[in-house]
Amino acid sequence: MGSRLVTWNVLGTSTLLFLFLFSWFSSVTASVTYDQKAIVINGKRRILISGSIHYPRSTPEMWPDLIQKAKDGGLDVIQTYVFWNGHEPSPGKYYFEGRYDLVRFIKLVQQAGLYVHLRIGPYVCAEWNFGGFPVWLKYVPGISFRTDNQPFKAAMQGFTKKIVDMMKAERLFQSQGGPIILSQIENEYGPVEWEIGAPGRAYTKWAAQMAVGLGTGVPWVMCKQDDAPDPVINACNGFYCDWFTPNKAYKPKMWTEAWTGWYTEFGGPVPHRPAEDLAFSVAKFIQKGGSFVNYYMYHGGTNFGRTAGGPFISTSYDYDAPLDEYGLLREPKYGHLRDLHKAIKLCEPALVSTDPTVISLGNNQEAHVFKSRSGACAAFLANYDSRSYATVAFGNMHYNLPPWSISILPDCKNTVFNTARVGAQSSQMKMTPVYRGFSWQSYNEETASYDDNSFTTVGLLEQINVTRDASDYLWYMTDVKIDPNEAFLRNGQYPVLTVLSAGHALHVFINGQLSGTVYGSLENPKLTFSDKVKLIAGINKISLLSIAVGLPNVGPHFETWNAGVLGPITLKGLNEGQRDLSWQKWSYKIGLKGETVGIQSLSGSSSVEWEVSSVAQKQPMTWYKTTFNAPGGNEPLALDMGSMGKGQIWINGESIGRYWPAYKAYGSCGGCNYAGTYDEKKCRSNCGEASQRWYHVPRSWLRPTGNQLVIFEEWGGYPNWISLDKRTVQSVCADIYEWQPTLTNWELQSSGKVQRPLRPKAHLWCSPGTKISSIKFASFGTPQGVCGSFQEGSCHAHKSYDAFQRNCIGQQTCSVTVAPEVFGGDPCPSTMKKLSVEAICS
Ligand code: GAL
Repeated sequence: MGSRLVTWNVLGTSTLLFLFLFSWFSSVTASVTYDQKAIVINGKRRILISGSIHYPRSTPEMWPDLIQKAKDGGLDVIQTYVFWNGHEPSPGKYYFEGRYDLVRFIKLVQQAGLYVHLRIGPYVCAEWNFGGFPVWLKYVPGISFRTDNQPFKAAMQGFTKKIVDMMKAERLFQSQGGPIILSQIENEYGPVEWEIGAPGRAYTKWAAQMAVGLGTGVPWVMCKQDDAPDPVINACNGFYCDWFTPNKAYKPKMWTEAWTGWYTEFGGPVPHRPAEDLAFSVAKFIQKGGSFVNYYMYHGGTNFGRTAGGPFISTSYDYDAPLDEYGLLREPKYGHLRDLHKAIKLCEPALVSTDPTVISLGNNQEAHVFKSRSGACAAFLANYDSRSYATVAFGNMHYNLPPWSISILPDCKNTVFNTARVGAQSSQMKMTPVYRGFSWQSYNEETASYDDNSFTTVGLLEQINVTRDASDYLWYMTDVKIDPNEAFLRNGQYPVLTVLSAGHALHVFINGQLSGTVYGSLENPKLTFSDKVKLIAGINKISLLSIAVGLPNVGPHFETWNAGVLGPITLKGLNEGQRDLSWQKWSYKIGLKGETVGIQSLSGSSSVEWEVSSVAQKQPMTWYKTTFNAPGGNEPLALDMGSMGKGQIWINGESIGRYWPAYKAYGSCGGCNYAGTYDEKKCRSNCGEASQRWYHVPRSWLRPTGNQLVIFEEWGGYPNWISLDKRTVQSVCADIYEWQPTLTNWELQSSGKVQRPLRPKAHLWCSPGTKISSIKFASFGTPQGVCGSFQEGSCHAHKSYDAFQRNCIGQQTCSVTVAPEVFGGDPCPSTMKKLSVEAICS
């Protein structure tokens, strides 16, 4: 204090005045606060549209494009978690390079003119290995995660402060002129607190205080945390959040995770959330006074390496997000949300200045009207009925509302957008082989051997305690002595080996031969192997390869959940009856021989003898290696692993991740109607097929020539069928109703350029470098079906194709007005018609 007084004296009055003005000025130009309506940036309430892009789920080379697409899609904010286990792989050893270059990522967002919501966690869930915690943290003496526990709190504070200090040093908080307008501490702790009671409540208070104490100058958020202590804002996560109210009247209504789809697990179908329903949920949230929406995920990306959590989370984290796994636009979701954001932004002045008046328009229909004192007026007209259209009277006009939809009227008069009327085109993507017929070499992994790296104990050990997650693989090896007098040796009634494992997958080898494979699922990672085994007289080697498929990322004290063979292990059908093998001597080996020598790296791969002439096919435990040149072009690439079983892939030493196409998606898929409450089980695809067949190969990981591809196959597969594919747009579709509202029309009308509503247009757009080569389908009338499988309905204009043939063939993009005269006259005058068109890009 004393030294500060001295400084003040020395500075003199003019300097003091300057400093006062400066600090006053800078707090005005770079401040983030909040009130009951919204986040307030530099004194201005904002409706903020945000999207999650997790930096390690793509490559730095992809970041600028992803961020630009997010901006073009109408986002104001990019939200990301911070991934502790990526940044501190061992205690005190930090890593902020490559895909983990957090500062670079944030600066790119800043350069694009967007804000950042930084969810430090450091617990992140996120289907990420161990929920983002480093595995070493589990072995800190006396630790217990996410509760009122001193060692945990110390570690959590240490990492949180480390990140905050780093952001401060780079001047990245908005209070310093940087892009970060919000942070997050913890993640969905409410349900855990509810379960564990008092220590949970104490931890919540501590976490909030600790975070606020770091003095970032921007607000903190806690999501799914009803009791978030002031000044921390509690926020909502879910498929819908319109029902949500913050815990204090002076906090804004924020939605930190609007789920755009859902994650895929190996063995599960691929989720899909229709764009109409997602737009409906967002419009509903905004009409109820919400002012911050974050799409989780906006770009899901890829769980490279061994970063996937779960267990059983697939390598693809596509999430059915507006930008697909590869960073390409997922249409119509991307375009439909972009149009929604424009419509919402037109309403922003009214939305931030008042609370809505709610007017009933029918049994299941409502208007939310925002009328400000300065004269701004915006209205949202909702039809919650999931089956029927509604015609409602509002003002002195009538409006037709499709089922399960909201119309947005930025002037309380004209509809510019309806959540169920998609003006954006939809695209069908395809994967085309660009490289096939790799010439493979193979190397057989040793199935069981005791060497310098193995050790022996009595009894069975928990897997993660042994591996510390350095590898997915842990060998459990033992010897079983079979007396030559055993009856089964003569009658062929082999004994049954039963192995109980806590998960996640297990290959059983008897004397070096694969005898069987079992695996669990995300719902139940536990598994049991029980089968006859061909033992011989004398010493038999039983080798169990136990495989962790990502560590759990959610659930009460998930850090204590076990993996690996915990037994019992028994052998039934011997002369003596049953033999318990659980308590005999077991030897352990962490990882594979290939891993130990670094076979996936350019240098390590030469340390083993590769088979060149008779390359193994359909053989378990095999390494494959090949080299290839990078294909030209800039389309995203992926490996088609459809012919393989289960394993891992590396390119030039970089891990692409785990593959497991042999795990077919169980459960039901069925049809998909956008209307009605969505949950992750609705609208799924791939039932009965591989949950994941393609594996993203980032372009930036390739050099022009001599790329080394290494694969480890556990089960046996046919490498000759592997291909490197490019991802492109196959066809584009538009599905437009006559008189469907459009933003363009509204702009023309509101600028006085046209008097009456105009007809909508169908826009088609192929990726640059490709052109519309044919019109696969066109029908103006009552066509049925969706992009890829349209069919004519009972009403069809005979000249439906003509306008597209004329205007679109040979073009990269084209537009056709959707009006009867364009298609040779009205084919069914008193019926509501639409146009469905599908064009092929090539
Ligand atoms: C949320 C969680 C996210 C993610 C999501 C499911 O509950 O906060 O991190 O796990 O579920 O994708």
